[in-house]
Amino acid sequence: MNVLVVGGAGYIGSHCVRQLAAAGHNPVVVDNLVFGHRAAVASDVPFYSVNLGNEKEMGKILRKEKIEVVMHFAAYAYVGESVTDPLKYYFNNVAATLHLLRCMLGSGVKKFVFSSTCATYGIPDRMPLVETMPQAPINPYGQTKLDVENALKAMAQAYGLSFAAFRYFNAAGAAEDGAIGEHHDPETHLIPLAIDAATGARPPLQVFGTDYPTPDGTCLRDYVHVDDLSRAHIAVFDKLATPGTALFYNLGTGTPTSVLEVIRAVEKVTGKKVPYVTAPRRAGDPPALYADSTKAQTELGWKIKFASIEPIVETAWKWHAAHPKGFAAK
Ligand code: UFG
Repeated sequence: MNVLVVGGAGYIGSHCVRQLAAAGHNPVVVDNLVFGHRAAVASDVPFYSVNLGNEKEMGKILRKEKIEVVMHFAAYAYVGESVTDPLKYYFNNVAATLHLLRCMLGSGVKKFVFSSTCATYGIPDRMPLVETMPQAPINPYGQTKLDVENALKAMAQAYGLSFAAFRYFNAAGAAEDGAIGEHHDPETHLIPLAIDAATGARPPLQVFGTDYPTPDGTCLRDYVHVDDLSRAHIAVFDKLATPGTALFYNLGTGTPTSVLEVIRAVEKVTGKKVPYVTAPRRAGDPPALYADSTKAQTELGWKIKFASIEPIVETAWKWHAAHPKGFAAK
């Protein structure tokens, strides 16, 4: 398939581009490089630095590259910032996405794969999460993702758009060969911050909240390897052949892992202590979020290769050890 990967120079998008190429597809990347890294995309992959909301330019790319399916990873994803600057999130995550969809439909491209999030569930009252549970986001970031999910549903009915929306849990890790990895600026994610605390590249880690109603008092999350996520995106292609298909899948391993367990895994893998201090709870953090991904496994044949935290951290460490400044060092 000729696949347009919007946000293909970002963390998850760039890993998906490599998986697409490995599976024999033809990825084409669009990324405005606000958060993406040019070096995360191989030089033989067609690359366009364009805003996804630019319908004129995007239309040209769709036609020139004979695109059959669009994957959309280009969103702002800082929960805290979405609370302080919601307009930024609604414009980029919702309005720009609607431009992209209108452009696709106008160009006759009707297959779409969307990056959604477990943040659409808000603070669930039961765990693990299945796709049919109520969605009640508690911040604008999650709301923008849910708004797009709902728009997609309507467009599937009205225009025959076929789509899959993947609700990611905590994407983590790096390419197994160490070629690309996670580099956010600013970095807010637990695993890269814990690794940097271990190496001394950053100050001691702050553990946000030790009084949660969880076994060790710290938050439970479902860390899922970025290449496992990517493989689900490719496994869904066959399902998009029928016009009007609307699919929603949770993507997580189903294993809850606490912040302290992540710290221990980083210590084991790196052989270094992770200095940390306890800090107050971070606003908007649900105590526990983990997935039931039975639907993706049974319907897509999705196989989780990295089922526990240590092998995930091993891949992250391989990348960080070789690229202590991420892509900036290149
Ligand atoms: N944490 C710390 N200290 C830190 C950073 C994180 O204790 O310095 C804790 C958080 O409180 C949380 C866990 O580590 O309990 C994981 O935090 P991350 O920031 O790595 O990930 P989140 O669970 O907050 O975020 C993920 C995605 C977001 C998405 C969100 C939905 O990365 O894009 O899930 O809840 F919006």
